[in-house]
Amino acid sequence: MSIDYNEKIPNNVDIAGDRKLRRALENWQPAYLKWWENLGPVESANYDVYLRTAISVDEGGWAHYGLLKMPEYRWGIFLAPPEPDRKIGFGIHKGEPVWTDLPGEYRAELRRLIVTQGDTEPASVEQQRRLGKICPSLYDLRNLYQVNVEEGRHLWAMVYLLHAYFGRDGREEADEMLLRHAGDPDKPRILQAFNEKTDDWLSFFMFTYFQDRDGKYQLAALAESGFDPLARSCRFMLTEEAHHMFVGETGIARIVQRTCEVMKEHDTDAVRPFGVIDLPTIQRFINFHYSICLDLFGQEKSTNAANYYSMGLKGRYQESKIDDDHVLSDSVYLVPEIQGDRVVGTEISALTAINERLRHDYAKDSDRGIQRFNKIIREHGVDFEFKLPNFAFNRGVGTFLGVEATPEGKLIGAEEWDRRRDEWLPPKADFDFVASLMQPVTEPGKMAGWIAPPKRGIHGQPLDFEYVRFH
Ligand SMILES: [Fe+2]
Ligand SMILES: [Fe+2]
Repeated sequence: MSIDYNEKIPNNVDIAGDRKLRRALENWQPAYLKWWENLGPVESANYDVYLRTAISVDEGGWAHYGLLKMPEYRWGIFLAPPEPDRKIGFGIHKGEPVWTDLPGEYRAELRRLIVTQGDTEPASVEQQRRLGKICPSLYDLRNLYQVNVEEGRHLWAMVYLLHAYFGRDGREEADEMLLRHAGDPDKPRILQAFNEKTDDWLSFFMFTYFQDRDGKYQLAALAESGFDPLARSCRFMLTEEAHHMFVGETGIARIVQRTCEVMKEHDTDAVRPFGVIDLPTIQRFINFHYSICLDLFGQEKSTNAANYYSMGLKGRYQESKIDDDHVLSDSVYLVPEIQGDRVVGTEISALTAINERLRHDYAKDSDRGIQRFNKIIREHGVDFEFKLPNFAFNRGVGTFLGVEATPEGKLIGAEEWDRRRDEWLPPKADFDFVASLMQPVTEPGKMAGWIAPPKRGIHGQPLDFEYVRFH
């Protein structure tokens, strides 16, 4: 399925054949570009950036690489090819053909799912907009911008669905996407993790490791949807999401690598004077980002999630690979419950525990990278281990809302929390220290001192390639 780049809005959904839709999207396009200009990456409009652009949605060879100004990026609408005879894979409609048009009875639920997903995309661009000014290298700067333009495209993917299937209120929702802003006290983004500051590159790599991984799991669950246009949009978005997590994982790994090198070289844990980030600080950033991302999966027990599942709108991670009846009316799942000063597991209907299950899948996936970071530490002969905190730690949603717990999951009182909070979550001094390291490095091939170089360049280019040209 090739993409039509002759159109003002590149697409593989034949918007040329639907004049009303094309007009609606062409009306939204200037508002989007205005938003990019005002709230996208600061002062970047004239930079030439070595970006990849999707040219096809087929497996392999879908991308083109070249120098491009970001406002000229060809944002558009790309759906994965339809699967012939695809059937709904779960819920009460299991086995029925997928919906190629909006199922009217589930309009409100689908709108909510699409808006919630769509809102995170421009939010992350807003959160990351100042990072370009303090990049650790041109390689990293290019990766930041690549992530940013793709998050912009993810917004296009959701806005297309709103325009194409939801009529007037869909268009209103699409407009609202550009009116809410990350961290805006009056009109914040819908989910709290997308209102947090991301003002330094340690936070950026944590964001692309943890928040973008939440994106992967949400998109994977929506890619199972019986509403086929949503499933196909999300399937193509997932191919882009993989790169965002690559940026996060390799970014953290390179920081850990550099820190361990300096620890060995100077035979000390106290590495801050040498201009690298100490491992306990990295652990506190992990604790923060992971715990706020756990909240993104919602309440442990959720009738909304059960309904989305039963209706066939949002499935589980890799639904088709799970060996059960995909209806779940007789199954149970273990969720945490607080009894006195202890956390115990309690069985509830697997249907109402859909959120918790996705959270578990996310947790397992998050831990895999953590173990790879630990391997780097071990290889340097350093005695330290990163750990993901317990589900009870620092939570703002669900069973653990308002509960104080250690990263190990032991419930504690407010007094102990106040006394020890800064051991577990980054205090202002951590942010100040990390900020002090954020001096821009823009000479091709050069790296900031707190991060090791990547193993290889982008798309076969050498590391000292000029990935961004400022003029
Ligand atoms: Fe995204
Ligand atoms: Fe992403």
